[in-house]
Amino acid sequence: MGSLLKKLALALCAMGGANAINMGLRIGSGGRTIHDFKEEVAKAEANLARRDVDPESLYPKRYFDMPVDHFPNKAKYAPHTKHTYKNRYWFDDSHYKPGGPVIILQSGETNGLNRLPYMQKGILADLAEATGGMSVIFEHRYYGYSFPTRYLNTTDLRFLTTEQALEDVKYFATNVVFPGHEKENLTSGCTPWISYGGSYPGSISAFLRVKYPDVFWGSIGSSAVTKAIYDYWQYYAPVAEYGPAFAMATQKIFTDMVDTILIKKADDTTLTHKLKATFNLPNLTHNGDFGNQLASGVGLWQSLNWDPEVSDTGFYDYCNNITSSDVLYPHTESKRSDAASLLEATGYESNTTVVNQLLNYIGWVYENSVKYCGEDQTQDECFSTLIKSHYQETGQAQSVWRSWSYQYCSEWGYLQTGSGVPRNQMPVISRTIDIEYTSAVCRFAFDIHHPADVEEANQYGGYEISHSRLAFIDGQWDPWRPATPHAYQYGAPHRVSTTTEPFILIPKALHHYDENGRFPNETTPRLPPPAVKNAQKQEVHFVKAWVDEWHAAKK
Ligand SMILES: *[C@@H]1O[C@H](CO)[C@@H](O)[C@H](O)[C@H]1NC(C)=O
Ligand SMILES: *[C@@H]1O[C@H](CO)[C@@H](O)[C@H](O)[C@H]1NC(C)=O
Ligand SMILES: *[C@@H]1O[C@H](CO)[C@@H](O)[C@H](O)[C@H]1NC(C)=O
Ligand SMILES: *[C@@H]1O[C@H](CO)[C@@H](O)[C@H](O)[C@H]1NC(C)=O
Ligand SMILES: *[C@@H]1O[C@H](CO)[C@@H](O)[C@H](O)[C@H]1NC(C)=O
Ligand SMILES: *[C@@H]1O[C@H](CO)[C@@H](O)[C@H](O)[C@H]1NC(C)=O
Repeated sequence: MGSLLKKLALALCAMGGANAINMGLRIGSGGRTIHDFKEEVAKAEANLARRDVDPESLYPKRYFDMPVDHFPNKAKYAPHTKHTYKNRYWFDDSHYKPGGPVIILQSGETNGLNRLPYMQKGILADLAEATGGMSVIFEHRYYGYSFPTRYLNTTDLRFLTTEQALEDVKYFATNVVFPGHEKENLTSGCTPWISYGGSYPGSISAFLRVKYPDVFWGSIGSSAVTKAIYDYWQYYAPVAEYGPAFAMATQKIFTDMVDTILIKKADDTTLTHKLKATFNLPNLTHNGDFGNQLASGVGLWQSLNWDPEVSDTGFYDYCNNITSSDVLYPHTESKRSDAASLLEATGYESNTTVVNQLLNYIGWVYENSVKYCGEDQTQDECFSTLIKSHYQETGQAQSVWRSWSYQYCSEWGYLQTGSGVPRNQMPVISRTIDIEYTSAVCRFAFDIHHPADVEEANQYGGYEISHSRLAFIDGQWDPWRPATPHAYQYGAPHRVSTTTEPFILIPKALHHYDENGRFPNETTPRLPPPAVKNAQKQEVHFVKAWVDEWHAAKK
């Protein structure tokens, strides 16, 4: 059900290779609703069925006994428990040669199965092959099948914190015995461990090196969001800056039109109703929910990937729609005079070109979202994120939306607002998408009423985080770049890249573009693009140098 069914299906095709949507949009921004997230499990399972070779048949799942509570003395985890749970992981020893490193990929805020393709192709496979390494995919607690507790209510979620998650990986690295390798000691005391992660797992990877330098010999943080930010309005800044200029200029005008009506002219209920009715959303009660649906197009930016197999190019379709001077959806013709009067009411000219573009915006939102609302449902039921009863299920299957929501409500923030955009800039999403609106999930699902404790993450250095053998790889166009060490515009310092502290910005790249890859028989001169291939090559080069360093140090 729900708004973005079609787009969601497309976005989920991307999951296998690259862009799990979990770290992408929040409930209540970029068109995402609670329903969209609930669709994820089924879609992800369907996606697994369409791969060349099901990676699950190649890499059996393994379970490691993990303490539920690593901090028996910290009051925040009371009541404490001495129980353990089964933490899932996978490994591949097909490249492994005795003396080689363990390369561990942090799976982060998704089902670890979604990361399995990286065993076969992409950076994990490349690094293992180049170093004779053992590759591991480590599922994060409270995701996939790795649950320390039976339910996901606020009481049971108390063990879902960044520090417990970091301790999990440390405990694993110092204790694991890989089946079939019982005679070797592959723990971090005897073998170099190198961690890789993209996105939130990139932060985990980076924090591990800083917090436990004796356990993790080296780490790569790709699109590592090392700076937690509560009001993360900057999410849309790279879209506005690097999206097609004409489309973004048009988007800003339409957004300003919407906000002028909903915010400045809020008392004119005839006008506000006319706006919603013209967009075929007459019965959507809350302005934030309306703004959210209108943000569905710009919200597609993060689903772009260099690999056509995993990319959703819906963002560019959307841009082409709102910049087309032809009417693309004949059913919108009946709304021509209303569209023109909305522009005029907000001080904009209503020439044929801009009216046609507005009709295309209306048509696009209808075709991609509004029309999926069932006859038997109200528009609020379909599109509102503000209905408390939608957030009450606490079974493990709800982890798809509940676990990461809990993490950002409690520690990471990253609420993707329009309201946070500085007054002297025109936002590309409505200012009705504000903190109150985007934090509704925190109150309704978890009874959290205060801002996230971003210090939990930022204690490791935020933009300034650095360490020997800690690499940062980022994408110039990534909507998450403003939260990474490459956020120059927001105060991150410039750095010189060295083999010891590699610092690489991939031009025209979005979210962790270095993570996925193609089979050798599927590469072409343009795929992966030279800039991505170059970053991956550098990663192989410096990880080999780090491993050599380890052997030299142990001699
Ligand atoms: C390329 O190789 C992989 C694995 O070796 C295989 O699964 C895939 O089908 C091949 N692709 C093509 C286009 O032949
Ligand atoms: C959460 O679920 C547990 C069962 O695991 C139950 O004991 C507890 O009372 C629940 N807490 C809340 C706040 O609902
Ligand atoms: C492996 O090595 C570590 C540290 O060097 C040691 O503490 C541990 O007991 C060893 N494990 C086994 C199974 O021998
Ligand atoms: C809006 O609500 C009215 C009154 O309940 C109803 O007649 C109409 O069908 C609804 N429209 C939509 C598009 O849901
Ligand atoms: C408009 O967007 C749709 C996707 O919703 C796409 O299929 C179509 O090609 C786009 N049309 C133009 C002219 O860009
Ligand atoms: C049409 O109106 C829009 C804004 O309403 C304006 O940006 C654009 O320049 C106008 N185009 C022409 C050809 O007048």
